[in-house]
Amino acid sequence: MMPTSNPIQLDDSHVIIRMLEEELAATNQDVLLLTLELEERVAQLQQLNGQLESKVAALHQSEALLQREVHEKGILLQEIHHRVKNNLQIVRSLLDLQSSQISDPVLIEILKDSQNRVTSMALVHQTLYQSNDLAHVDFKSFLDSLVPTLVDSYGMKPERVRFEIDTDSVLLPVEAAIPCGLIVNELITNAFRHAFPNGRSGDVTIGLTRRDDDEVLFSVSDNGVGLPEGIDLENGKTLGLQLVRLLVAQLSGTVSIHRSNPTQLAVRFRATEDGEAGGCRP
Ligand SMILES: Nc1ncnc2c1ncn2[C@@H]1O[C@H](COP(=O)(O)OP(=O)(O)OP(=O)(O)O)[C@@H](O)[C@H]1O
Ligand SMILES: [Mg+2]
Repeated sequence: MMPTSNPIQLDDSHVIIRMLEEELAATNQDVLLLTLELEERVAQLQQLNGQLESKVAALHQSEALLQREVHEKGILLQEIHHRVKNNLQIVRSLLDLQSSQISDPVLIEILKDSQNRVTSMALVHQTLYQSNDLAHVDFKSFLDSLVPTLVDSYGMKPERVRFEIDTDSVLLPVEAAIPCGLIVNELITNAFRHAFPNGRSGDVTIGLTRRDDDEVLFSVSDNGVGLPEGIDLENGKTLGLQLVRLLVAQLSGTVSIHRSNPTQLAVRFRATEDGEAGGCRP
C-alpha cells in the first residue's frame, strides 16, 4: 500500500511564509546596521589615511630639505678644501720667489724643504676636494701624488732609487691625514737625501695598513747606508726628526726605529674610519 503523504495545509504555508518574511526583514535590518557601521569605519580609515598621507608628504619634504642642506654643506666643504689648497700653493710660490732671490745653496735647500712641507699639506686638501668623501683622505691616492712630486723636487733618478708604495687603501680622517702626510714627507725626503750617497742605488718602500682594531701602521724603509749611531728621535736637534716626534705625539701614536737593513721608521696610531683619530695601545 502507498504511504499517505501529509499534505501541507494552506494556512500553515502562510504562517511559514510570514515567519520567513519576518526573519528576512530582521536580517535586512542587521545588514543595514552592519553596512552603516562599515561605512563609518571606512570614513574613519579614510580620515586616518589622509592624515598619514600628509605626514608622509611632510617627511618627504623634510628629507628633500635635508638632502639639499647636505649637498650645500658638501659644496661648501669642497670649496674650503679648494681654497686652503690654493692658499698653500700661494705660500709655496712665495717661498719659490724668495729662493730665487738668494744664492746660498744651504738656504735654497732649506726653502725647498719648506716648500715640500707646504706641498704635502696642499696635496691632502687636493685629495679631499677631489673626492666624494670630504672628511676622509684616501692615503694611498695621496701617496701616489706625493711621491712623484718629491722625486721631481729632489731630482731622483728612478733607475737609481726605486719606489714602492705597498699600502692598502686606507681612509684617514683629515686630522690624522695632515700630520701623517707631513711625517711621510720628512721620511721620504730623508731617504732621498741621506740613504743613498755617492750615487748609491736602492729601494724605498712605504707601507700602510689598518688593522681590524683600527690601529694604523705606516712605515718608510730603505736599504741604504743606515741611520748613523747617535741619531735618535728623542734627542735629535735637527728639524726633520723633531717634526716627526711632534707630529707622532699629535697623533697620540708611537714610533719605532730600525737603524739598518732595512732602515725603517714605523709609526703606529689609532684612527677609526668614521673619523676618530688619536690614541695608541701601549
Ligand atoms: N733614511 C736615512 N738613512 C740614513 N741616514 C738618515 C736617514 N734619515 C735620517 N738620517 C740621518 O739622520 C739625520 C737627521 O735627520 P733629520 O731629518 O732630522 O735632519 P736632516 O734631514 O739632516 O735635515 P732637516 O731638518 O732639513 O730634515 C740626518 O742628517 C741623517 O744623517
Ligand atoms: Mg730630514
